Amino acid sequence: MSGAKNSALPALAACLLTSEPVTLRRIPPVRDIATMQKLLGHTGAKVAVADDYVQVEAAKLKRPEAPYDLVKTMRASSLVLGPLVARSGRARVSLPGGCAIGARPINLHLAGLERLGAEVRQEHGYIEADAPNGLQGAPFTFDRISVTGTEDVLMAAVLARGETIINNAAREPEVADLAALLIKMGAAIEGAGTSTIRVQGVEKLHGTEHSIIPDRIEAGTFLVAGAITRGDLVIQNCMPDHLRALIEKLTQAGARITAPSPDSLRIRAKKLKSVDVKTEEHPGFATDLQAQFMALMTQAEGISLITETIFENRFMHALELARMGANIRLDGRQAIVAGVTPLSGAQVIASDLRASASLVLAGLAASGETVIDRVYHIDRGYEKIEAKLKGVGARIRRVK
Ligand code: EPU
Repeated sequence: MSGAKNSALPALAACLLTSEPVTLRRIPPVRDIATMQKLLGHTGAKVAVADDYVQVEAAKLKRPEAPYDLVKTMRASSLVLGPLVARSGRARVSLPGGCAIGARPINLHLAGLERLGAEVRQEHGYIEADAPNGLQGAPFTFDRISVTGTEDVLMAAVLARGETIINNAAREPEVADLAALLIKMGAAIEGAGTSTIRVQGVEKLHGTEHSIIPDRIEAGTFLVAGAITRGDLVIQNCMPDHLRALIEKLTQAGARITAPSPDSLRIRAKKLKSVDVKTEEHPGFATDLQAQFMALMTQAEGISLITETIFENRFMHALELARMGANIRLDGRQAIVAGVTPLSGAQVIASDLRASASLVLAGLAASGETVIDRVYHIDRGYEKIEAKLKGVGARIRRVK
């Protein structure tokens, strides 16, 4: 598996916190990463991309800003807000617009930065944050759990004076990975990966080297690929511990999953039965695997109730799956999937990253040919998915 996109994005943003070079390994060469690298370049950081590492040197920040052009293509651009204010005392970051999966505001990021003493205003579609005398550590409680919000505030807190306690923090492995990097850079952080993170601010951070964790969503997508094709698939270079909720659901659905080594998983599946899933913050069932699991449930016997609690509009794939023959009824935040329905290949449109993955999975199980349009969505977050699937026997190719 590749390095985790959602860990690599904050790791790259964290490089803005020091003037010294930071070397990151296992940065996946996917579209969102290229966007983040462009964004770092825009601020004045030097970004060198080699085969097996990316090195960022933010000696001077000429422009502590994230322009609309970059933010509109990737919402995670708001991850530079915290590091920029912390390092240069000001930041100007375009507000992200709407998004295919929900509103996705950044009010929680802003509330956290304000709590650390930044003055935040909104003007002409941009957020301007100022802290001319530096940030001041403080206790802060997230009203709602936010992954990049936690990361943003954490990155700001490491250079703030005194202690910051982040309550109701996201517990995603990507938050813990970011903290691991920051600690190597000289930050004092405790509790990352739990819901309370304590940070003692330091004056300066320094350069270091870090390897990004494997992508649990990519690994999860391949587990579902193994199940939906009734295959026998070994997924290497993954962290089984990060996939517990999915493994439990796949097992309940009838798949057999074993761990041949500490960093691999093997899935074997024959007949599948329906199970209900409800997306939750980590360690619950990941919203980023909901679309893929829905494709799988079309091939399971019985009725599956899929509840999306994280994003309000993340069922666009359901309509496309229905065009392939799936029996799915949507009711607000719930999808009712009745299986088994034979899927038949069709021309479908990808609406977002994980939705495109679910269409690829459905295509693997469908009779005949499936053509997926707007496949650039998949390139935002999956490295060479077609080559990896082809390597295990799928008949898939990129048309354009
Ligand atoms: N929210 C707010 N205000 C905020 C921030 C979030 O209301 O200031 C709401 C969101 O609208 C959403 C919920 O809180 O309803 C949770 O959003 P969160 O902030 O946790 O999402 P995110 O940090 O923007 C990250 C991932 C997403 C993943 C979500 C949930 C990155 C770069 N992105 O987004 O990944 O779905 O957490 O786990 O880490 C993907 O990779 O396909 C993807 C969308």
